[in-house]
Amino acid sequence: MGESITITDNRTGETIEIPIDRGGIDARAWGSLLPGIWFDDPSFTATSGADSAITYLDGAKGLLRYRGYPIEQLAGSTSFLEVAHLIVFGELPNRVQLTAWSDEIASEAPIHENFHKRILEGFRDDAHAMGVLVSGIAAMSTFWPDGKDVEDPVCRRTQIIRLIAKMPTLAASAYRRSVGTPYVQPDPDLDYTGNFLSMMFCQRDRPYEVDPVLRDALDLLFVLHADHEQNCSTTAARVVGSAHADPYLTVASAAAALSGPRHGGANEAVVRMLENIGSYDNVDDFIAGVKAGDQKLMGFGHRVYKNYDPRARIVKDTAHRVFEVTGRNPLLDMALKLEEVALADEYFISRNLYPNVDFYSGLIYQSMGFPVEMFTVLFAIGRTPGWLAHWDELLVNESRIARPRQTYSGRPERTVPHTDQR
Ligand code: CMC
Repeated sequence: MGESITITDNRTGETIEIPIDRGGIDARAWGSLLPGIWFDDPSFTATSGADSAITYLDGAKGLLRYRGYPIEQLAGSTSFLEVAHLIVFGELPNRVQLTAWSDEIASEAPIHENFHKRILEGFRDDAHAMGVLVSGIAAMSTFWPDGKDVEDPVCRRTQIIRLIAKMPTLAASAYRRSVGTPYVQPDPDLDYTGNFLSMMFCQRDRPYEVDPVLRDALDLLFVLHADHEQNCSTTAARVVGSAHADPYLTVASAAAALSGPRHGGANEAVVRMLENIGSYDNVDDFIAGVKAGDQKLMGFGHRVYKNYDPRARIVKDTAHRVFEVTGRNPLLDMALKLEEVALADEYFISRNLYPNVDFYSGLIYQSMGFPVEMFTVLFAIGRTPGWLAHWDELLVNESRIARPRQTYSGRPERTVPHTDQR
């Protein structure tokens, strides 16, 4: 045996040696020695819930790789659809594969008119776009019940294409519904991200000119968000998928998890935070409040990265390119000062708190004309291939249903009293 650990049950003196495999130990070996004794790990800080070949992340070194390729190499040299293919199928597509893949995605992009009328029209005018998106994805389950055959790889592939294809259409429709402009169906002559921008912003009476700099920047942001191993939403997808729920309900659960401000909702929260700080001169007071525990510095910190998030560095560079086209976002100076003050402050240094992917992305989205309610929706479009790749991998590996144990802290057994005695 190579590296291993030995556990001794001090009650019986029994020991068991467990091999260390890729940095972990098999909890089933622990279970064979100590049945009924659980690891107490409520937020899974020390638990690996998956054996995955999709994304490699080293938080201490700030490394991120999709299927072995460093994010820095993928960013800027590959399109989102190429990266989606890589993440889902394991390899970057060659030219022929890319054409076929792009055509398959384009052909599945339209959304049935009934879906617009019956599902999207039911929401209040001020409904948050993430609520509409999550509900819309869940509703797809009723439009495509053929997706329920989750054990069939051909069926899974069809649903993966459908979901990646329809997410931008659904997202743009959620936006157009909120502003009361007519829905737009995708244009098969446009690329994935250009098409999304066009569906978002085109006016009926004027052709929409997609700015290549903005399209490339958004496409790059989708690449940066495409997967991030066992984050909260992907874990949600794996847990729900392990019950053999269909892919639409699985992805809706993941998107619901993403909406939280600790996760994908942070990009919206960062911009709201910057607007609340109000002026450059208030930054020091705001940081003092963070250190006093009054609020979090949104867009900072990460469960796994204890170093600069490599995605944040790329987002920051991208922001400058975008601002050359759109004009400088007035919130940028405040964000730069916040980063500078935080990175020099003992509170943030001692806790290894660095900017994460959400710190600068919201500023880019805002400058491109997206309302803040759409920011997490954009994250969801980017993350969809990741959720689906994990869902597919889980089903290929024939995993068992996710079912953790609990440490019970409630009352001991007692007798139900009569209503008059309560
Ligand atoms: N501002 C101020 N203090 C912080 C922050 C922050 N953003 N993040 C962590 N801390 C403190 C935390 O209070 C704790 O301090 P102490 O040791 O004194 O109790 C210490 O740092 C360790 O933090 P933690 O809460 O144990 O960290 P966690 O791994 O449980 O939470 C996190 C990770 C991302 C939820 C958290 O850092 C956070 O809430 N950040 C702000 C929200 C955010 O930007 N989220 C996006 C994450 S990246 C993209 C994504 O995955 O969606």
